Amino acid sequence: MGLADLRRSYDGTPLTEADLHDDPLVQVARWVAEARDELEKATEVNAMAVATADAQGRPSVRIALLKDLDERGLTFFTNLDSRKGRELRENPYCALALHWQPIYRQIRVSGPCVEVDRDEVDAYFASRPADSRRGAWASEQSAPIESREAIERRMEELGARFPDDDAIPTPTNWGGFRVEPDEIELWQGRPDRLHDRFLWTREDGAWTRRRLQP
Ligand SMILES: Cc1cc2nc3c(=O)[nH]c(=O)nc-3n(C[C@H](O)[C@H](O)[C@H](O)COP(=O)(O)O)c2cc1C
Repeated sequence: MGLADLRRSYDGTPLTEADLHDDPLVQVARWVAEARDELEKATEVNAMAVATADAQGRPSVRIALLKDLDERGLTFFTNLDSRKGRELRENPYCALALHWQPIYRQIRVSGPCVEVDRDEVDAYFASRPADSRRGAWASEQSAPIESREAIERRMEELGARFPDDDAIPTPTNWGGFRVEPDEIELWQGRPDRLHDRFLWTREDGAWTRRRLQP
């Protein structure tokens, strides 16, 4: 059977105008909460695709974890010198997609992003397990390395450099990006490919919402 024969029906619950909050970030928070309730045991509900583009407009995409969501936007943490970090510093526009297959839902977000303040970065970094914090020091994310042994050796060196779990500082090249959305789309899969889609766009601080064709 070829890929073209793979086909599912999306029997999602209807998404109507009456279900939606006027503020799409509040609506996104509701959907994230619902996804947690239904799917947290089965999957990483905060895993999202993060798309960036370089100065020539050439896109790249990878998964990162949504770690904060509030009225300012959506935040993930990463190495600032990684490919995505370099691209976002050249071109701050970023697009995100969350997908929860079992409940037939997708959220798309796009807008410029800003770097998260150092005090917020430090607070999040401190909450990570000690070896993840050492790992952030060990990895020059996205740079080539000659072998697995080389990174494991670096990890051992970091164990000697930072023996105290409570005294591992945040690397200066590690931080967070907050996407400040100017577009948010909720997609609810429905039968016969007649999906429910709502797109909010922000202009001069005010959100407008339209239903889109599936
Ligand atoms: C489920 C999952 C979660 C991930 N979470 C993060 C994350 O929060 N931050 C991060 O920098 N990379 C994360 N990664 C790794 C990225 O996908 C990617 O490999 C890495 O950030 C390097 O990307 P870049 O070279 O495009 O910068 C995650 C990968 C997976 C599969």
